[in-house]
Amino acid sequence: MISNLTNVEGLGFFLYRSTARPGLDQGDMHDILTAARRRNQQLELTGCLHHEDGLFFQWLEGPSPALLQVIELLVQDPRHLNLEVLDEGALDHRRFQEWRMRFSDRDRASLMDWFAVTESSTVHRGDYAGGITAFLMSAAA
Ligand SMILES: Cc1cc2nc3c(=O)[nH]c(=O)nc-3n(C[C@H](O)[C@H](O)[C@H](O)COP(=O)(O)O)c2cc1C
Repeated sequence: MISNLTNVEGLGFFLYRSTARPGLDQGDMHDILTAARRRNQQLELTGCLHHEDGLFFQWLEGPSPALLQVIELLVQDPRHLNLEVLDEGALDHRRFQEWRMRFSDRDRASLMDWFAVTESSTVHRGDYAGGITAFLMSAAA
């Protein structure tokens, strides 16, 4: 299993990066978001997904058993590859309470631009996952 969330009771979060399958188009994105929001609604999961330069960054949060169920589906989904866990663990409150799965792409908010203008003191040197999380939260503001 790719995740250690089995050790987490209550609310958990899962942050990963993956590579979009080459040729993935708008129709595929629509299908992904429709299915994701439907299941997240049922399982009380919230979060956000960012797509930029062929990469996905996703933050998912909710009850750990539900999270594990979706992670299992995610790792088998051929629409993305090289899923790499950036961070995961227990959570005291949700960051994306209002979102069944918020979506952004580079037209809406660019991760590269954000990193370029963000003071290095905001994101501790070497804290890549912290930087991605701060970006996702700023994009949702
Ligand atoms: C980048 C990406 C993000 C996804 N995010 C979610 C998600 O947040 N929740 C979810 O249930 N499925 C998500 N999926 C889809 C699952 O991998 C799976 O295809 C889907 O849950 C199957 O739904 P269905 O059985 O209703 O067709 C995502 C897929 C991709 C490629």
